[in-house]
Amino acid sequence: MPLLRFDPSAAFIPTTGLEPADVQALEPMLDKLRQEVIDIDMQMLAGKLPTPADKQPLDAAFTSMPERLLAEYESNRRGSELGRILAEAKRFQESLDRVVVLGIGGSYMGARALLEACCQPYWNELSRGARGSRPRMYFEGNNVDNDASQGLLRLLASESASSSGKPNWGIVVISKSGGTLETAAAFRQFLAALEAACGGDADSVRSRVIPVTGDSGKLFNFAKELGCAEIFPVPDGVGGRFSVLSAVGLLPAALLGLNIIELLQGAVAMTQHFRQAPPSENVVLRYAAVNHLMETKRGAVVRLLSVWSKALESAGLWYDQLLAESLGKQHKGAMPLTTLNTRDLHSRHQQHQEGRRDKLINNLIVENYRDDPLAIGRRATDPDGLNDLADKTLPEVMHAAIQGTNQALRDDNRPTTNIYLPRTDEHSLGQFFQMMMLATVVEGRLLGLNPYGQPGVEAYKKNMNRLLGRK
Ligand code: PA5
Repeated sequence: MPLLRFDPSAAFIPTTGLEPADVQALEPMLDKLRQEVIDIDMQMLAGKLPTPADKQPLDAAFTSMPERLLAEYESNRRGSELGRILAEAKRFQESLDRVVVLGIGGSYMGARALLEACCQPYWNELSRGARGSRPRMYFEGNNVDNDASQGLLRLLASESASSSGKPNWGIVVISKSGGTLETAAAFRQFLAALEAACGGDADSVRSRVIPVTGDSGKLFNFAKELGCAEIFPVPDGVGGRFSVLSAVGLLPAALLGLNIIELLQGAVAMTQHFRQAPPSENVVLRYAAVNHLMETKRGAVVRLLSVWSKALESAGLWYDQLLAESLGKQHKGAMPLTTLNTRDLHSRHQQHQEGRRDKLINNLIVENYRDDPLAIGRRATDPDGLNDLADKTLPEVMHAAIQGTNQALRDDNRPTTNIYLPRTDEHSLGQFFQMMMLATVVEGRLLGLNPYGQPGVEAYKKNMNRLLGRK
């Protein structure tokens, strides 16, 4: 499978952009940081070296997690975590038609990104046959939005029961800490609805709930009390926004029938590339270097991920969280912004073309479409004057839009880069997730801050709990 490509050449612009020599000058440092990420951090995590205070928390286990999960699966297909995830997914697929995934932040965004990127568009609208007998998927517990929760509960209640007379929906509840209020409150509410629909039959309820959580904490205890047969882990040393390739993302992906082995293999391919490729050819290190230098040298404090496929908008939002929570510390860190084009050419682009010179635009471009190219088509009377484009296909129009936009930005000395994703499939998404997670850690170290942990999120939680009368 081809590796995604990163082309930063359009960021090399005199005065407003970078010189190739700027990136070259950073290469010894990049090499050192790579060593830190793949070796020293791992030794610290394993307790072979002490972890200094400024590196705590050190949630670096995501680096080798895909390799570990695949190796365990190879040696024990049924008993390994992947084997168990696949078995639970099959059981749910056979018995249920709708799954509500409860989670927020890192316990939510990866699963949503995978659904949108790798499943057919309009997934939940498709018939069961067209979905290959995989369930519809809904996301809740990512807010405390009364009307949204009520709307989904109403929809589930109106669902006709399966032939067994029991509800044809279930819950996947994901929370590493097990104590996040949004998710915990939603779990109570959706569990109560499930219990009511099951007529108080505890076996039916527990067979319709799969928790993913740390191995202590309130959700773990709750799951034990319910008697859930499987509780999947968020491993120690894997932070929320770095957990998409653990059960947090893998279980929802497997439920959707996605190939989680290829997803992990894509991540492994990126890790190997990161370990082996020289800094001058290393997509992770080059992406980190160009973005870091644009921020610190050229004041590009706004960082766009400009995605050129509807399927990738949620992958962009996943990256928004990764960047914001990892690097938005100590008055540093670029502000992430996902734009979806060509949609946002008609809303945000004016500002990106002529507004402040405080941005770097990273384009995320899909190289191969899943479906056949759709031509615009000819009409006998040509009322809209489009017959000159009748034979042009949407990929051709998209290509012209990307080239035209990049050229317009280049003409005004506005730097851009291109990330070329081979496809919107599991392998490519695995590569993309791992590339961005590794690059974010490298960038954090370049900025002199710890990319793990999110101390700034605690303040609102404290206030909210106080206002709710909790200690
Ligand atoms: O990156 C993070 O750690 C956070 O965004 C968490 O994922 C988010 O706060 C949800 O936490 P939890 O999984 O503990 O419910």
